[in-house]
Amino acid sequence: MSIKIDGKALAQELRVSLRERALEFKKTRGTEIGLAVVLVGEDPASQVYVRNKIKACEEVGIKSYSYHLPQDASREQVLSLIDELVAEENVHGILVQLPLPKHLNEQEILRHIPPKKDVDGFCAENVGNLAMNRETIVACTPFGVMKMLEKYGIDPKGKTAVVLGRSNIVGKPMAMLLLNADATVTVCHSKTENLQKVCASADILVVAIGKAKFVTADMVKEGAVVIDVGMDRDENGKLCGDVDFEAVEKKASYITPVPGGVGPMTITMLMYNTVLAAFRS
Ligand code: GUN
Repeated sequence: MSIKIDGKALAQELRVSLRERALEFKKTRGTEIGLAVVLVGEDPASQVYVRNKIKACEEVGIKSYSYHLPQDASREQVLSLIDELVAEENVHGILVQLPLPKHLNEQEILRHIPPKKDVDGFCAENVGNLAMNRETIVACTPFGVMKMLEKYGIDPKGKTAVVLGRSNIVGKPMAMLLLNADATVTVCHSKTENLQKVCASADILVVAIGKAKFVTADMVKEGAVVIDVGMDRDENGKLCGDVDFEAVEKKASYITPVPGGVGPMTITMLMYNTVLAAFRS
């Protein structure tokens, strides 16, 4: 039987200390930490995420500035809003919720956010710094995973780590963080051959492919640490992850549940990055 990694509890613990940091900022700088959240369009999942981010800001004592542009917002409309937020001194972090509507060029829009205000850690400079193992703003989900490993005393040094998924938001920065922490890292994706064998070689398996219960027990080594970044629905519409939890928990040493694992950490790390960005401003 495995130990469940409690992301909810760790997120709560971190939020308490972030609240103190936010108060300290207000006392010393005479202004609140500010985070601008930009949502374009009506994607239902994005609306839920944005609502949760704003709620987290309230909890931590960060002032949120929320902008909702219509689905058919033009490139110029989005860019001019970002330019305004870049110029606004009280906005320390800018977040553009992804995915954007198809007619907008995601990369072009993200490039308008200066690295210092890029609290998602998505821009080329922040990603480049991460690749070079320099201090930077790190993407929230993989950053949260590293905090969870640390909290549970799991040191990636010398371990075989396998990351399933190669997205810019999770898979790639996750692989770089594990590499920076001295793990031996393999990144798997939809074209990987012998996936079962590669996954079963992992001491630490991080799964971020967005397919419900994709990782089965035969893909997991006895005693592995299994981190599930997925947020899916099973055949009955119930929330579940990318890992078949019931089967895999019998083999893993540590495992993150869904919900209550990685999810609560992601938004907390956004608060963490915003506090960092404010203090560095
Ligand atoms: N869409 C899904 N995850 C994220 C995230 O971490 N940040 C932003 N901006 N959009 C997302």
